[in-house]
Amino acid sequence: MGDRANAQALPALVDRYGRAITYLRVSVTDRCDFRCVYCMSEHMTFLPRRDLLTLEELDRMCSAFAARGVRKLRITGGEPLVRKNIMWLIERLARHLASGRLDELTLTTNGSQLKRFAPALKDAGVARINISLDTLRPDRFRAITRWGDLATVLQGLEAAEAAGLKVKINTVALKGTNEDEIDDMIRFAHGRGHDLTLIETMPMGDVDGDRTDQYLPLSVVRARLMDRWTLEEIPYRTGGPARYVHIAETGGRLGFITPLSHNFCESCNRVRLTCTGTLYMCLGQEDAVDLRAPLRASDDDAQLNAAIDRAMALKPKGHDFVIDRHTRQPAVARHMSVTGG
Ligand SMILES: C[S@@+](CC[C@H](N)C(=O)[O-])C[C@H]1O[C@@H](n2cnc3c(N)ncnc32)[C@H](O)[C@@H]1O
Ligand code: SF4
Repeated sequence: MGDRANAQALPALVDRYGRAITYLRVSVTDRCDFRCVYCMSEHMTFLPRRDLLTLEELDRMCSAFAARGVRKLRITGGEPLVRKNIMWLIERLARHLASGRLDELTLTTNGSQLKRFAPALKDAGVARINISLDTLRPDRFRAITRWGDLATVLQGLEAAEAAGLKVKINTVALKGTNEDEIDDMIRFAHGRGHDLTLIETMPMGDVDGDRTDQYLPLSVVRARLMDRWTLEEIPYRTGGPARYVHIAETGGRLGFITPLSHNFCESCNRVRLTCTGTLYMCLGQEDAVDLRAPLRASDDDAQLNAAIDRAMALKPKGHDFVIDRHTRQPAVARHMSVTGG
């Protein structure tokens, strides 16, 4: 199946603008044990389980992409660690690390299950993970995630550190919610030896509320930070869209992901697979191709590869995100939990 196609060299993935696609993000579930205010509404309808790719199918999909030159795989969701038997998939995919086909197998998580999973992730060959953490105050944490518990996530972070996983902390900057805590987040992350990345809210999916109330341009955050910290531009990149600065006072790195105020599409190297097998070509556009039907149609990957090639021709030049008071609808109707960010 996925590995069978590897016997002969298949053409690497390049889109019509000449961008090499080397990074696949895979959402393994749309479910989550949190209901973050910027990501989900409180009452979500999740996909029926029968629509999900099985773990075996997810392995086959990811392996097909690895055979086409994808070097980095990020497992995300929803919350990836709430998918039943997720470690089976991660351990299985790790064979591509061992073979040298993949450079990196990584995970984005809310941290709620890390206490349990951190050692197994490290043992499987996962070297780095991203943990989403927007605040260090328990009451705020509950208000932002609606269902989450800060202490549990901090225990998860400690478990990841103890297991020897390299951690990056992702913080969504939210107007009027955690904007007064960015300094504390910097001290916290850098004090523990972790990079911190700030993310702007993106208008994706209905979330019971007005997004203009949440949107805080990172250009504003950055200008404010410069009053108190010495930010030095550095060329450091992790293969993602974050632009990094070095903070002289802490010696740590701070990243900014600014999809709205800065366009990073020219160097986009990624595509996103949903848990139902739809391949989205851009986080901010609807262009997508169903890969589940060709995967299920046959045991060999010929139809799957043909569908992946069709998808490459659809990758748009860039996104059209806008958040303003005249645009009440989300720029894309699907929630971030469908494509995993
Ligand atoms: C969709 S989550 C999936 C993985 C995991 N549940 C987590 O929270 O890390 C991935 C990332 O997307 C971010 N995110 C979710 N909705 C967003 C939005 N509307 N705008 C910007 N970032 C968002 C989250 O904060 C998280 O860092
Ligand atoms: S951001 Fe992550 S943790 Fe929060 S609701 Fe979305 S998927 Fe769940």
